[in-house]
Amino acid sequence: MQQRGRIKVVIVDSAFEDASVENMILKEINADVQFFHCKDEEEIVRIAKEANAIINNLLPMSKETISALDKLQLIVRCAVGYDNIDLKAATENKVVICNVPDYCTAEVADHTLGLILSLSRKIPWIDSYTKKGRADFSADWKNFAPIYRLNGKTAGIIGFGKIGREVAKRLKAFGLRILVYDPYLPQKIFENFGVAPVALEDLLKTSDIVSIHCPLTKDTYHLISKDKLGLMKKTAILVNVSRGPIVDEEALYEALKNNLIQSAALDVFEKEPLEKNSPFLKLKNVIITPHIAWYSEEAAIDSRKFASEEILRFFKGVKPKNIVNLEVLKYYPQLE
Ligand code: GLV
Repeated sequence: MQQRGRIKVVIVDSAFEDASVENMILKEINADVQFFHCKDEEEIVRIAKEANAIINNLLPMSKETISALDKLQLIVRCAVGYDNIDLKAATENKVVICNVPDYCTAEVADHTLGLILSLSRKIPWIDSYTKKGRADFSADWKNFAPIYRLNGKTAGIIGFGKIGREVAKRLKAFGLRILVYDPYLPQKIFENFGVAPVALEDLLKTSDIVSIHCPLTKDTYHLISKDKLGLMKKTAILVNVSRGPIVDEEALYEALKNNLIQSAALDVFEKEPLEKNSPFLKLKNVIITPHIAWYSEEAAIDSRKFASEEILRFFKGVKPKNIVNLEVLKYYPQLE
């Protein structure tokens, strides 16, 4: 990409303490990399006025912010989900948006399995009970009944992208039958992975474990509504490591409180961080982790490396690998 002067890359709300990884990659184009922990979009507009590219994390990039940054050509969301960026406004402003879809696939799949095993084996509850020091090692299993055998049960996976597929692979190794709901994929994919595509209603009615791995879009907002929760088995468990708003949280709270489903494990919430007085913190049949499923030391480095490599490609005139607003390419014919 033609550029007068040094390319300015601004990391606006980094989750990390320095820009060492980004600098290492972007020195090839002699980019001026600046690094901030912005608290809100106003601050982004103030500090990124001269930015040609932005790396963002959790803060939204709204229409107002994108329109206010005249020199901006590229935003890389340093994560898989990009629901915090106004894609339409980006395209209108000729700003290319990329995500980093493949830095934590194994981590999220492993975390999901950890949650499924924890819920179905009731490990966190048994652990804290046993640590009280009064456990009776011959009879206490009765306190935790019922625990059901996983082998032979049915798992329903909602969203069959990279992570959903890795979860399916792991669950198969535990002897589960896999149902999948993903209306965006061709039949062939399901055949190749040996899973059964089903309607969402059928998945919810039949599955012993329901695990959510789809992105948050206007179609998946509150996909798991009160009605949908009502279809699930009383013995079923629900895992959400994707995005909070895919589940109607109020309805889920009621379902858990009234034991309409057995339990849930949540890494994501409608509002993050979770409020200190969130009723979920008091529920006995829920496991909570704080949006951490993505994390490993390796994934943290990869997210920054892959994000920087997209910027490198773009300014070297090579099409970035993971553009999510492909229509924008009409403004960049040289990248095609
Ligand atoms: C984490 O939630 C991600 O989207 O990468």
